[in-house]
Amino acid sequence: MRIIRDVAAVRAAVDGAGRVGLVPTMGAFHEGHLSLIRAARESCDLVVVWLFVNPTQFNEASDLANYPRDEERDAALAAECGTDILFAPPVDQVYPAGFATTVSVSGIADVLEGAHRPGHFTGVATVVAKMLNMVGSDVAYFGAKDAQQVAVVRRMVADLDIPVTIDVLPIVREPDGLAMSSRNVRLSADERRRAAALHRGLAAARDAAAAGEQDAGILASIVADELERESITAEYVAVLDPETFEPVASVERPTLIALAARVGPVRLVDNMEVTP
Ligand code: PAJ
Repeated sequence: MRIIRDVAAVRAAVDGAGRVGLVPTMGAFHEGHLSLIRAARESCDLVVVWLFVNPTQFNEASDLANYPRDEERDAALAAECGTDILFAPPVDQVYPAGFATTVSVSGIADVLEGAHRPGHFTGVATVVAKMLNMVGSDVAYFGAKDAQQVAVVRRMVADLDIPVTIDVLPIVREPDGLAMSSRNVRLSADERRRAAALHRGLAAARDAAAAGEQDAGILASIVADELERESITAEYVAVLDPETFEPVASVERPTLIALAARVGPVRLVDNMEVTP
């Protein structure tokens, strides 16, 4: 595995390499990230892992300052999973002096995470557009954990005619159901235990929908009740169309339940598809 920090070198390495897979990450790898790298390894000739803690998508300075970073550990894990190139550019390579262009996606990026984290999706769309242009991969791999990010990236790729296929992989969870996240390491032991309520709530709503409950309000309150048992108040629990992210009143087809909640100092997101 090579570690590359500049665009010219990554372009030279990708040139003529066959099918190129890109795995965008901010590092602090866990099994969720590694599942994306392994999927890329299975279907691509060259696997490029993007490792960059993107400052423009953080709307809280403390979240950026506390974001876990360990490039040495990440490099070892990436290599173990078959990465060919770890592309880890410095901030001034991505945002050089005079940088003035951003990509913002309207509609789908304005609700939920977009509403609670002003500027977040403009930061994400801009950096993803840049990395797709820098690497020119055939495929880019994303996790269903950040369902709205997937919808925003798909919209941008379609709208800007970026020639890449977006592949989405399922959420990887801890044994108690908590979705793996780089931020989980910041939970205390007690917060970590209580955080399992996010998945319990979503699973309870999924079971209720499978048993015939179609009312979106009732399904959302099933989730909220499970959170409240652990004294967790959700920022939102939304029952949505998975493509448009518009709220639905009744579950008539596969529907997404997405939530965000603070547990101690950490803001967590999770989601689950439910079917009637
Ligand atoms: P990051 O949070 O590091 O996540 C990188 C990728 O891993 C994302 O596609 C995310 O959805 C996926 N992922 C995270 N946890 C997962 C889990 N438990 N199961 C499956 N996949 C999981 O998302 C970002 O970075 C950034 O916004 C980025 C796209 C790199 C732009 O800066």
